Amino acid sequence: MLIRIPKGWELPESAATPESLFRDRRRLIKAAAAGPILLGMPALLAACDDGDPAAKAALEAGAKIPDPSAKLYPFDRNPKFTLDRPLTAERLATTYNNYYEFGSSKNIHEKAQRLPIRPWTITIAGQVEKEFEIGMDDLLAKMPLEERLYRHRCVEAWSMAVPWSGFAMKALVDLARPLSSAKYVKMVTFENPKVASGQSESWYPWPYVEGLSLAEATNDLAFLATGVYGKTMPKQNGAPLRLAVPWKYGFKSIKGLVRFEFTDKRPVSFWEQLQNREYGFWANVNPEVPHPRWSQATERVLGVNGRVPTLLYNGYGEFVADLYKDMSGEKLFL
Ligand code: MTE
Repeated sequence: MLIRIPKGWELPESAATPESLFRDRRRLIKAAAAGPILLGMPALLAACDDGDPAAKAALEAGAKIPDPSAKLYPFDRNPKFTLDRPLTAERLATTYNNYYEFGSSKNIHEKAQRLPIRPWTITIAGQVEKEFEIGMDDLLAKMPLEERLYRHRCVEAWSMAVPWSGFAMKALVDLARPLSSAKYVKMVTFENPKVASGQSESWYPWPYVEGLSLAEATNDLAFLATGVYGKTMPKQNGAPLRLAVPWKYGFKSIKGLVRFEFTDKRPVSFWEQLQNREYGFWANVNPEVPHPRWSQATERVLGVNGRVPTLLYNGYGEFVADLYKDMSGEKLFL
C-alpha cells in the first residue's frame, strides 16, 4: 500500500492516510456533491487529452498569448512603503517559488509557463450589490496602479524583499460594493489541471482558497499585485493577479486569482483544510509563536548568508496591529 511522504513543509492528511483510501474518499465526496452524471468523468477527460495533438497544440498556443498589459509598466513607486534590507535579486525571486498547482518543489518556474493568462476573467460574487465579471485588462484600466516595496516572509522561515506592482485591495473592494452583511472576502485560484499538473493530485483540496476579513482587505497594506520588478508578473509568481499581505505568512498571498466572494462566514483556506493545527486563518507573523514543528524566531533572507531576527507582523505593526486589538481569543499567529 502507498503512503505519500510529504515534501517541504506541508503535512497533508494523505500523509497519515494511505493514499488510495484518501483518493477514494475525496472522489466519493466530490461525486456525491456533483450528482450521478459526473461519476466517471475524470477518466473521460483524461482520455480526451491523451495524445491528442490538436488539444496539445491548443494548450500550447493559449500559453503563448502575450500579456497586453506589458506596456503599462513600470508604475510609479509609492514612497510610503520602505524596506530595511536590499531587494532580493530578481532571478532568485522568480526561480524559488511555492506554487503547488505546478508541483511541490521550489523549482516550478518552467512548468508554470504552461498557464494561459489571457483571456483572464475575474468574478466578483456573493454579498455584493450586484455580482459581475470583469476581464483582467478592464480591471487594470479602473485601478490606481503603483509600485510598493514589501518584505515577504514564508511560514517555512525564508524571506525576500520584492518590488510589487499592482493596486490597493481596497480599490477592488470599493469596485465590488459589498453589502453591510459581508465580513470576509474569500479568494480563489484558477482550476485547470490540464496545464497545472499539481491539480491532478487529488489529495489536495483544489482549488487553492484564501480569505481575509473585510477590515484586513481594506487595510492600507493589502495589495493586489499584477507585476514585480517593474514588469508584468511572471507566471510562477502568480500572474496575472495575486495577493500580497506582507504582515502574514506567505501562504496567505494567494496566486492566480479568478474569484473574490464576499461572505459573512469565515472562509476555510487551502492549508487550513489540510492541517488546521499548523496553518490557521489569521497566520500573522510572530517570532514568538513557533510553528508546531519549527521556530519562527529568525528567517533566512534569500541571497544573504546567515539568518536575521523575524519581526512581529513582519515589521508592519504600525499598519495592522490595531486590526487585532479586540481579538484576544483568536489564534492570531498560527
Ligand atoms: N497560491 C497558490 N495558488 N498556490 C500556492 O501553492 N503558495 C503560497 C503563496 N500563494 C501558493 C500560493 C506560498 S506557501 C507562498 S510562500 C507564496 O505564494 C510564495 O510566493 P512566491 O513564489 O512569489 O515567493
